[in-house]
Amino acid sequence: MHTQVAIIGAGPAGLALGHLLRRHGIESVILEHRARAYVEGRVRAGVLEQGTTDLLNELGVGERMGREGLTHHGFHLQFGGERHRIDMHELTGGRSITVYGQQEVVKDLIAARLQQGEPILFEAEGVSLHGLDGERPSVRFRHAGEPHELTCDYVAGCDGFHGASRAAIPPGVLSVYQKIYPFAWLGVLAHAAPASDELIYAYHERGFALQSMRSPSVSRLYVQCPLDDRIEQWSDDRIWSELHARLDLADGPPINDGAIFERGILSFRSFVVEPMQYGRLLLAGDAAHTVPPTGAKGMNLAIADVRVLGAALAARYHEGRDDLLESYSATCLRRVWRAEHFSWYMTSMLHRFPDDDGGFQHQMQLAQLRYTVASRAAATSLAENYAGLAQI
Ligand code: FAD
Ligand code: PHB
Repeated sequence: MHTQVAIIGAGPAGLALGHLLRRHGIESVILEHRARAYVEGRVRAGVLEQGTTDLLNELGVGERMGREGLTHHGFHLQFGGERHRIDMHELTGGRSITVYGQQEVVKDLIAARLQQGEPILFEAEGVSLHGLDGERPSVRFRHAGEPHELTCDYVAGCDGFHGASRAAIPPGVLSVYQKIYPFAWLGVLAHAAPASDELIYAYHERGFALQSMRSPSVSRLYVQCPLDDRIEQWSDDRIWSELHARLDLADGPPINDGAIFERGILSFRSFVVEPMQYGRLLLAGDAAHTVPPTGAKGMNLAIADVRVLGAALAARYHEGRDDLLESYSATCLRRVWRAEHFSWYMTSMLHRFPDDDGGFQHQMQLAQLRYTVASRAAATSLAENYAGLAQI
């Protein structure tokens, strides 16, 4: 088997890249080690920046998102028993975000690709990358019990944080930057109407909480929990009582309870490798960098990377230019580090730190929150980062 670009991973990055390449008349094969149902059912991010929705629309896969996605012009910061609205739309000169689940994006991208007759090999096992420093790399894997070799011009490593692509780069090539946080999130999906039409990010003495949503009748809720908690320690009653304690206000309607139908504990880290490329291998999305979810940037960064990569490969194939491929990593890393900073900042401002003995950090967080809601300049900085910066 031969293709022009072998794409490892059918997450948002790999799937969107496949569509971008097709529009440029470039062939690709996507290799995904999980089953289709698993990939489509995996609950993850929910907030799409304008740049992400624009790209999905350009790719012709935005129709359901346009119908079912929820456009938000603002969000709330809550602390000290008060809720403050950040008017993102007004502060950023008209920008908004769309709430639409990552697995819905993934379903739409998969359906469109299969309808176009383009290949995605699900349940491709034991993927390994070879000859990355030469002109003709290859990918070996097993599919339906048979061994296969796919030769290609380029490999796009879109296989997430635990994938095989980054691991195929020889030791010593990459610089690794990372930060691990001393807490986790417990996340649930519940059949409950969201109490607020817009997201609420709450800083509370008991820890962070977030009210998000997937539809007018489904809430997506998170509470900060200790890093080593197990899901069995959290009964439904305990989950709701923590959510009420952290999100309800004395003078407003409480959040709505409902049947929980999905739950999980999510630990997270800030992580970046430089450069995002090695020979004929280009890394994109979580394969190269991860952020804590507080800034809602993970999937948006993945999509932003492949927009750059798609254009670079098109310049290579259609104009014989290598410069955009050579500068791929540097171009992406500017946006990546901005998002890393923003995600770290949001996480640091909004979580209780277990090692904050004297409470100094708590006072710093309150001071920052008060400033953010009192100063138009500070609120604008938050709003423009949250909505996504077009140019950095
Ligand atoms: P992924 O979505 O991870 O896709 C990689 C794909 O590669 C997967 O389909 C995987 O099965 C496949 N793969 C892996 N290894 C191999 C292999 N060896 N061979 C073949 N295929 C392979 N971000 C937010 O902004 N908000 C959130 O609430 C949020 N929640 C998250 C919850 C979890 C549990 C995780 C892990 C991430 C979350 N994120 C969140 C981050 C966001 O979902 C990611 O940034 C986004 O999925 C990145 O897309 P991607 O395509 O780069 O990687
Ligand atoms: C979500 O809806 O899952 C979500 C929203 C905002 C975040 C993280 C997750 O910051």
